[in-house]
Amino acid sequence: MKTTKIFADRNLTVGQVQPTLYGSFLEHLGRAVYEGIYEPGHPTADENGFRGDVLELIQELNVPIVRYPGGNFVSGYDWRDGIGPKDKRPVRLDLAWHTTEPNEFGTDEFLKWCKKAGVVPMMAVNLGTGTVKDAAQLVEYCNHAGGTALSDLRRANGAEEPYRVAYWCLGNEMDGHWQIGHLTADEYGRKAFEAAKVMRWTNGETDREAPNGRLKLIVSGSSNHEMPTFPEWDRIVLEHTYEQVDYLSMHRYYEYAPQSRRPLEDFFGAADDMKRYIDTMRATIEYVRAKVRSARKVRISFDEWNIWTQSAPRREPLWKKAPHLLEDVYTFRDALVFAGLMNTLLNSCDVVHIGCLAQLVNVIAPIMTEKGGGVFRQTTFYPFRYLSNSARGETVRTFSDSDTFENVYGEGRYINEAVNYDRKTGTVVVSLCNYAQEQREVELELRSFGKLKATEYVEMTSADLDAVNGFGIERVVPQERELPSVKEGSRVMLTLPPMSWSFLKFTA
Ligand code: AHR
Repeated sequence: MKTTKIFADRNLTVGQVQPTLYGSFLEHLGRAVYEGIYEPGHPTADENGFRGDVLELIQELNVPIVRYPGGNFVSGYDWRDGIGPKDKRPVRLDLAWHTTEPNEFGTDEFLKWCKKAGVVPMMAVNLGTGTVKDAAQLVEYCNHAGGTALSDLRRANGAEEPYRVAYWCLGNEMDGHWQIGHLTADEYGRKAFEAAKVMRWTNGETDREAPNGRLKLIVSGSSNHEMPTFPEWDRIVLEHTYEQVDYLSMHRYYEYAPQSRRPLEDFFGAADDMKRYIDTMRATIEYVRAKVRSARKVRISFDEWNIWTQSAPRREPLWKKAPHLLEDVYTFRDALVFAGLMNTLLNSCDVVHIGCLAQLVNVIAPIMTEKGGGVFRQTTFYPFRYLSNSARGETVRTFSDSDTFENVYGEGRYINEAVNYDRKTGTVVVSLCNYAQEQREVELELRSFGKLKATEYVEMTSADLDAVNGFGIERVVPQERELPSVKEGSRVMLTLPPMSWSFLKFTA
C-alpha cells in the first residue's frame, strides 16, 4: 500500500484565515427564507417569526456573515417592496425562479435577524433591472443616520439607529444569460463602477470623512469557469472598477451526475479544480493591478460555492409561494467532495477573504426544515461545522507526494489536505480527504509546532456512497477514532479508510 507523505512547517504559512471565509448565503428562493429562517407560528419562532431551531443550528455552524437577498433573485428585486407595514407590501412575480414573492420578509427583517443570529450582513444590490440610484438609496436607507426622507423612513419602520451595513455585492452573476438584465462585461463594468462610486458618496466617503467606515464592495466576477467569457469578463470588469472595489466575486457549484455517465473521478477532482480556478482569478487580479498601476489589493469573495445537482428537474408548479426548490439531499459522496472544497478555500486564504456556502437553509443547504416541524443536519453540515469552529488560525503550507488521478478538469490528488495553526491556542487542525477507493497510509510530519499531542480525531466514511441524513435519521455523521500517537512530537501515522474525510486536532 502506498504511504502518502505530507509535510507542514509552522514557519511556512499561506496566510491568516479571515473569519468571513466561513460565511453563507440566504436567497429569496424556495423555502430558504419562508419556512426556513422565518416561519411565524412555528413552535420555536420568536415574536418576529424567526425560527429558533434553525438559529441554533446556524450557531453550531458558527457562520459569521450571510449574503442576502440573492442570487438571481436580486436582479429583479425592488428593495422598496420589502419595507414598511407588511399588509401594504406588494405581492410580486419573481422572474428568476418563477415563483410568487409575498415580500413579508425584507431588508429590515433580514437586518434584525442578523442581529439576533450574531452575523454580519452582506447585502446585494440589483444591477439587473435596478439603477445606480436604487443601489445608492438602499445604502442611504440602511446607513444614513437620519434627517432625510429615506433614513427617516427606516426610523419610522422601527430602526432608529443606522444599520451600518459594510459589505455590498454589486449585482449577481451579471455575465449569465439567465440573469434578469444580463450585461456585457463593458456594460456591467461601467455600471458597477458608477454604482460603487455613488454608493460610497452616499455612505459619506469623501476625502474628509467616512462616518460609517468605508464600504466593502464586491464586484461580480464570472459565474463559473465554464462560461465562454471567463476570464476575459473578470479582466474587463476589473479594469473598469479596480480602484472602487475591494473584492472580485467567484461562484462555482460541483455536481455528481451519474446519468451523464461521468466517472466518480470527475466529481472527486473538484477540490483541485477549484484551486486552479482560484489561481486563475488571482492571476487575473494581479494582471489588472499591474495594468492600472494600482497599489491596492483586490481580494476574492467566493460568495457561492457548494455541491448542487443542477441537472435535477425542477418540478414545482409556476408561481407558487415558497415552493420546494433546489432541496438537494446530500449524500456521503457529496460531503466528501464538500470537505475537499473547504480544504481548497483554506489553502487559498491569502487571496480568498470571503467564502459563502450557498446556501444556508433548505435550498442546496446544510440545514433542512419541515414546515411546522423539525430540522435536520445534512451530511455536508459536518465538515463545515468542524472546520468553521476550529480552523480559524493561519493556513500552513503543505507539501505532499500524493499520487494523482486523471479527471475532466485535469489532475486530482487522491489525498487532499489542509493544515491550520492557531498561534493563540497552539492548536493544529488537519483535514484530510482520501479519494482513493482503497485504504491509504498517511505519514504526517508537523514541524516547528513544539511537541504535539493529538486531542481530537473524527472520521466520516460510509460503505454506501449514497447514504443521506433525514428528519430523525442521522446516518452520516463523523465517528470518533482512537487518538494517534505523535512520534517525537511531530510525526503521525494514519490509516485513512477508502473514500473518507478525517479531521484531527493537536495541541503543543
Ligand atoms: O444559489 C442558487 C443560484 O445559483 C443563485 O441564485 C445564483 O447566483 C447562482 O446561479
